[in-house]
Amino acid sequence: MARLRTVTRPRTPALPEPGEKVAKVDAMFDTIAPRYDRLNRILTLGLDGSWRRTTVGALGLGRGARVLDIACGTGDFCRDIAAAGGWVVGLDRSSGMLAAAATDAPLVRGDGLFLPVRDASLDGVTCGFALRNVIALDPLFAECARVLKPGGRAALLEVAEPERAIVRAGHRVYFRHVVPFIGGLLSDRAAYRYLPDSTAYLPPPAELVARLAAAGLVDVTRRLLGLGAAQLLCGTAR
Ligand SMILES: C[S@@+](CC[C@H](N)C(=O)[O-])C[C@H]1O[C@@H](n2cnc3c(N)ncnc32)[C@H](O)[C@@H]1O
Repeated sequence: MARLRTVTRPRTPALPEPGEKVAKVDAMFDTIAPRYDRLNRILTLGLDGSWRRTTVGALGLGRGARVLDIACGTGDFCRDIAAAGGWVVGLDRSSGMLAAAATDAPLVRGDGLFLPVRDASLDGVTCGFALRNVIALDPLFAECARVLKPGGRAALLEVAEPERAIVRAGHRVYFRHVVPFIGGLLSDRAAYRYLPDSTAYLPPPAELVARLAAAGLVDVTRRLLGLGAAQLLCGTAR
C-alpha cells in the first residue's frame, strides 16, 4: 500500500504532534470562531476580502454554477460566490466555525479529504487558508479534481511568504510577532501563534504546483497577492 504523504512536519512547539493535529485544529477553530472574522479583518488590514474576491473571480463562474467551498469557516467565500452568481455549498470540520457562519448558503459538517460529493458534479471548488490545516494535501487535491466536471476550476487561497527580501523581512516581523500579540489581546494567543508557525506545513511553491498537477488538474497556476503575503493556486479539471 502506498504511504500517505502527510504535511505534518512539526518544527516548533506551537505545532501539534502528527497524531493530534486533526483534534487540535478542530478545537482551535471551535475556540476562535466567534471572533474569527473580526481578527481576519484586523490582521490582514482588510485585504482578505479582496483576496477572496480575486479567488472567486479566478473560477470564471457562469450564473448558477455549482460550487463547493471546502473549509468554508464562517462563510466569507460562500457570500462572495453567491454574489458572483454561483450556487454554493460550504463544508467545514469545525462545528464552531459553522455555527458562527453568516451566509445563506447550505453548510455541511465534513472533511475536505473525504468530500460527500459525486464525481464530476461541480463547476468550481474553492478553499481558503486551509492547506496548512489538513493532515495531508494530496487527498485534498485529489478530491478537488474528482468532484469537478471537465473544465471545472479549483481556486485555492493560502498565506505565503513575500519574495522580495525587504517585504519579506517586514512581513516576518508582522506575522511572527504582531499577529500573535494582537491575536492574544483580542482572541486566543496560541491560535494566533499557530497561524505563522503552521506555514511550516506548506510545501515550497513549485512543489505545490506540481502536486496539484499530479492530482489531475491542468493549467495549474500560482500567483501572489498582497505583495506576496497570500498565494492563489488555480487549476482546471480535465
Ligand atoms: C483559517 S480557517 C479559513 C476559513 C475560511 N475558508 C476563510 O477563508 O476564512 C481554516 C478552516 O479550515 C477548516 N478545516 C481544517 N481542516 C479541515 C478539513 N480537513 N476539512 C474541512 N475543513 C477543515 C477549519 O475548521 C477552519 O474553519
